[in-house]
Amino acid sequence: MVTNNDISVTLGPVTFKNPVFIASGICGYGEEYSPLVPIEELGAVVTKTITVRSRLGNPPPRIHEVPTGALNSIGLENVGLEAYIRDKLPLLRDKRVGVIVSIAAEFEEEFVEVADKLAPLDGYKGLELNLSCPNVEEEALDHGRNPEFVERITRIVKERVPDRALLVKITPNVTDIGEVAKAAEAGGADGISAINTVVGVDFDLETGKPIFHRGSGGYSGPGILPIALQKVWEISRAVSIPIVGMGGISSVDDARKFFIAGATAIQVGTSLWVDPELTKNIIAALHEHPEYLGTGTAE
Ligand SMILES: Cc1cc2nc3c(=O)[nH]c(=O)nc-3n(C[C@H](O)[C@H](O)[C@H](O)COP(=O)(O)O)c2cc1C
Repeated sequence: MVTNNDISVTLGPVTFKNPVFIASGICGYGEEYSPLVPIEELGAVVTKTITVRSRLGNPPPRIHEVPTGALNSIGLENVGLEAYIRDKLPLLRDKRVGVIVSIAAEFEEEFVEVADKLAPLDGYKGLELNLSCPNVEEEALDHGRNPEFVERITRIVKERVPDRALLVKITPNVTDIGEVAKAAEAGGADGISAINTVVGVDFDLETGKPIFHRGSGGYSGPGILPIALQKVWEISRAVSIPIVGMGGISSVDDARKFFIAGATAIQVGTSLWVDPELTKNIIAALHEHPEYLGTGTAE
């Protein structure tokens, strides 16, 4: 029997039809995923992080499989803001899916520029500030460890997009993730997205050197699940805004654990590459068992 209980979730001023999103960087700008799974079924698609200027990213290899997931060193390759607005955002406009635009910038003025240009447009429901990318040369693109910066940037972006859901995606690669989450909350974020990838490395036995030119990469997939659950749990004790939890989800049960840890919604990433039906199965399970939501009672 197919049940269709209401499993919509609200993040700030915006309601999404369900709490199952695709994580940024997993399906590009949305069009890559649509032949495999009807993206209309999703609560939202978070598109690949864009920056003001296009970026080529890091030299290959950029993805390296490990037994419990993947390491990546993409380096924020993206088409840039203008091309995104012109060519990519319209691709999803006709689909009945919530679009969350992921953005990153080096300087405050660039965040202002991105927010000002996106603010008057339609075709998206939310912004996710990626303050957590570990795979870039520029220190400034990895400023999400600084609570003062996080609060300031969150505030200036939220002022410009008051009618959209503003998520702030924070890095697990900090000592106290709750402190960074609190800064985003103080700046007016509608939700915290966590976690981005965990710093990791692998070596080539032939050369004795790291697989990636940059050395370390970002570790994702099933192996990071306990770390991600821990971080979401910590954040849930630090803030009262919703948490969009992710990291290592590869089954319905994994998703349920995020709701127990305190998440209001979840994002699925790496495991979609091996199981494109995963989001569909999680959505079906939640329709059948809406009690899985709002179970954030873990002590
Ligand atoms: C190839 C790849 C590219 C990614 N690109 C981005 C990105 O552009 N912006 C971002 O915020 N996160 C990016 N991520 C991180 C994911 O959105 C997610 O936070 C992380 O992979 C943990 O979830 P998972 O274990 O389900 O993959 C990327 C991850 C992978 C594997």
